[in-house]
Amino acid sequence: MHDSERSERLARVYSARNNQELAEGYDEWSQEYEGDMISLGYATPAVAAGFMGRYVPPDGTILDAGVGTGILGDTLKVLGYEDLVGIDLSEGMLEKAREKGAYRELHRMVLGERLSFDDDRFAATISVGVFTTGHAPPESFDELVRVVRSGGWAIFSVRDDVYRDEGFQEKQESLEKEGKWRLAQMSDAFQPFPTGETSHMNLVFAYQIS
Ligand SMILES: C[S@@+](CC[C@H](N)C(=O)[O-])C[C@H]1O[C@@H](n2cnc3c(N)ncnc32)[C@H](O)[C@@H]1O
Repeated sequence: MHDSERSERLARVYSARNNQELAEGYDEWSQEYEGDMISLGYATPAVAAGFMGRYVPPDGTILDAGVGTGILGDTLKVLGYEDLVGIDLSEGMLEKAREKGAYRELHRMVLGERLSFDDDRFAATISVGVFTTGHAPPESFDELVRVVRSGGWAIFSVRDDVYRDEGFQEKQESLEKEGKWRLAQMSDAFQPFPTGETSHMNLVFAYQIS
């Protein structure tokens, strides 16, 4: 694999100006995505799966929001999370996730818009690599809170600069002030791509829904 081609694919999704361009970028990347991420030592799914294991009992329905090719699905299944539903804005990524067979349902839905799920449908939601620049906005949390039942969990990563500078910290704190969720744990900042070039750090959060 050529590093320059991988860099171009990454650059394309980070420079998307709207959801259509973003979806097209991921559609095109879908065949190479997992190989690229694994070659960079993609660490965020392992940290998020650790948070799941710490907080979320394995018997409920879990929403993987921004499921991508379903990297998390195989890991969550091994940990005993059998009832997995995934959503993503890229049909190409969803198609790759379908091939894995780890998810009971996969739907095209857009975070930041209303989700086609009833209130309180899920025991927990998990999102990895989705709350980063030019991707899903902080308002996505309103719908994630709506579709997770009281006492359930929201586990997700946020890029650290995006957390501070693009409204995530403000939104997460305001949902806590409004009594919608309670922060249980915020990870230390860590390098999401340990074998790649230096990149921004990631944070992983666990919130319990009120
Ligand atoms: C870096 S990938 C992460 C995929 C997977 N969670 C993982 O860790 O491998 C980001 C994913 O988020 C999806 N995405 C970005 N913005 C989104 C949005 N607003 N709504 C739904 N999916 C979105 C992309 O299509 C892509 O599949």
